[in-house]
Amino acid sequence: MKNIVLLGPPGVGKGTQSKMLSERFGIPQISTGDILRKAVSDKTEMGKKAKVFMERGELVPDEVVIGIIDDRIKNDDCKKGFILDGFPRNVNQAEELDKILKKKGFPLNIVLSIDASENEVIRRLGGRRSCKECGEVFHIFFRQPKNAGICDKCGGELYQRKDDKEETIRGRLEVYNRETNPLIDYYKKMGKLRSVSGKGEIKEIFSSLCKLVEEGC
Ligand code: AP5
Repeated sequence: MKNIVLLGPPGVGKGTQSKMLSERFGIPQISTGDILRKAVSDKTEMGKKAKVFMERGELVPDEVVIGIIDDRIKNDDCKKGFILDGFPRNVNQAEELDKILKKKGFPLNIVLSIDASENEVIRRLGGRRSCKECGEVFHIFFRQPKNAGICDKCGGELYQRKDDKEETIRGRLEVYNRETNPLIDYYKKMGKLRSVSGKGEIKEIFSSLCKLVEEGC
């Protein structure tokens, strides 16, 4: 199995890279952010609960996201492994993930940490545009769609996420520094952490990540 956790601040490129890793290694990308956004747009009970937290850039309560992961990794498509994108996000979630994996007899092979400066992630998030239909991610400067406002993959309409406004971005970064950053030490102590600079071209970062996955899984 290749069971991978991807860590990094909002906007560093976790979603971009984990989708590419998913294709390269034939294992699913599991993004709690994507799952929650779908629940919000479908107006499910979970979505209604999550919406307020997400729009404020705060973490959705642990029991909600832990339940999502526990359910999702039971699926058949996870038999060869999975990439967790945006989970865990605090020490409690990391401890719960350890318990879930232990119960299932799954290893955690590697934790990939991507980092970039605050200014860079603010620039990336400010220009991000996502597809309403398939969730594909673009950027107004760094990853432009062939036709402005239209998804290359499915022709869907591109939109700006509500939590990508500058004041919410700053709040998300604070939450990251307070809640998620301690996971760097958590996984370092476990000997699982491998770090990559998030500066530079998407392709270069991808090739560094692939190398680490090949060596570490
Ligand atoms: P989530 O969707 O996970 O948001 P996030 O972690 O803040 O990360 P982002 O999706 O904003 O950024 P990314 O790192 O994936 O960057 P991307 O590849 O898009 O979570 C959203 C919310 O859901 C949270 O705030 C919380 O409320 C809730 N939530 C989710 N998980 C939770 C959990 N476990 N517990 C509790 N609550 C949870 O790239 C960004 C932009 O940069 C794109 O436009 C891209 O094209 C561009 N780009 C990427 N790489 C490069 C590069 N190398 N150079 C230039 N541009 C680049």
